[in-house]
Amino acid sequence: MTSSHLFLLCLLLSLLNFAASQDDSTIMQSLKSYLNLTSDVHWSDPDPCKWDRVICGESNRITRILLREKDITGTLPQDLGKLSELVEVDLQGNGFSGTIPDLSGLQYLRLFNVEHNELTGVVPPSFTGLKTLIVANLNYNFFQGPTPLFKNSDAVDATVNGNSFCLDTPVVNLGGFELTGTISPSFSKLTSLETIDLSNNNFTGSIPTELTTLPMLRTLNVSINNINGAVPTFSASVNVVTSGNANIGKDGPISHPLADPPDPSKIREEDIIGVTVLLLTCSYMGQEFLRVGYYVNNDYEDEQLREEPPAKVLLDKVQRNILSDKPRVTKFPINFHPEDEQTPAAADPPPPTEQSDEQQPDDKCGEAQVLPDQLPKPHES
Ligand SMILES: *[C@@H]1O[C@H](CO)[C@@H](O)[C@H](O)[C@H]1NC(C)=O
Ligand SMILES: *[C@@H]1O[C@H](CO)[C@@H](O)[C@H](O)[C@H]1NC(C)=O
Ligand SMILES: *[C@@H]1O[C@H](CO)[C@@H](O)[C@H](O)[C@H]1NC(C)=O
Repeated sequence: MTSSHLFLLCLLLSLLNFAASQDDSTIMQSLKSYLNLTSDVHWSDPDPCKWDRVICGESNRITRILLREKDITGTLPQDLGKLSELVEVDLQGNGFSGTIPDLSGLQYLRLFNVEHNELTGVVPPSFTGLKTLIVANLNYNFFQGPTPLFKNSDAVDATVNGNSFCLDTPVVNLGGFELTGTISPSFSKLTSLETIDLSNNNFTGSIPTELTTLPMLRTLNVSINNINGAVPTFSASVNVVTSGNANIGKDGPISHPLADPPDPSKIREEDIIGVTVLLLTCSYMGQEFLRVGYYVNNDYEDEQLREEPPAKVLLDKVQRNILSDKPRVTKFPINFHPEDEQTPAAADPPPPTEQSDEQQPDDKCGEAQVLPDQLPKPHES
């Protein structure tokens, strides 16, 4: 690059900077016109960089506006967000009213303190989304709407007390939105929720147990959906409306993601209908120490078919219910340290009878239950 090119480039850059600082000057004049400045704040010089409590950086761009505790009233101009080099705005303890304008242009803003003013409205996402923010103090204003969530919430020291935020929202009204999918357990994080109306949609899956933890919940309306599964136990003060869900209380559809339907051609026809058991067994060095059994009930959905089952099984009418919420767990005492058997310190290995199939569960284990003997032999799985 020749020196004349360099000169032109420098000229161009300084012209751009000059233009930007002229813009800053215009915006500051506009800010001034929005404010009732008190007599101790001198903002009369044509160059805002010479104003009280205004600090400029390179190229006369405004970087700091520091008007703490000055009894200034007024509003913030809509183009405040064009002071693109602003780093700090400290207006604490004044009478600023109106809303926070779009601040998305403030890509260097680190501190925004408006504590103890009279600002109103919703805290805009253009502000909460700023990535450079370190301190955001919105205490004691009249802000409304949802509690602001800062994008960079780990880094921002945000205080928002003394406002009229409806801390979360007490009502989720999503009735009749043709929504599909399952009900999110994350609703349980909106701890102020009093009403959840998800009625008249196409929700599937079951009602998440997490929702029972919502302390303020009074109404959960999931009527007219495709929800199945057991309804979790809510406190008596919650009105849970589940009408219009054909499969409520029943286990999910057969296409369970963890268990493909069995191939009926591999099951004897007389064994298809009825109760079977799914067994999971765990063994260590050939010794079974844990057995988890689930009842599986295959039956017709239709009551008439249930009462008078046809001679030939009508497979497409059979519903499989895996009672996965009622597992039978049996624990067996085994010796996990067979190599220690000869050492005097080793615990006595359990008597060999307890290793057999007919053994009793470990009595010391409170939750142990035995599978009833009369159950049909399991289809191993
Ligand atoms: C400034 O104060 C006067 C008198 O209190 C008031 O009428 C006027 O609206 C105020 N202006 C601004 C911009 O707040
Ligand atoms: C639910 O889905 C079915 C089939 O996809 C559709 O016919 C029905 O209108 C949907 N219901 C609602 C409330 O969106
Ligand atoms: C639940 O939703 C249904 C369908 O939108 C509505 O008819 C019913 O009144 C609601 N019940 C309650 C208690 O909100």
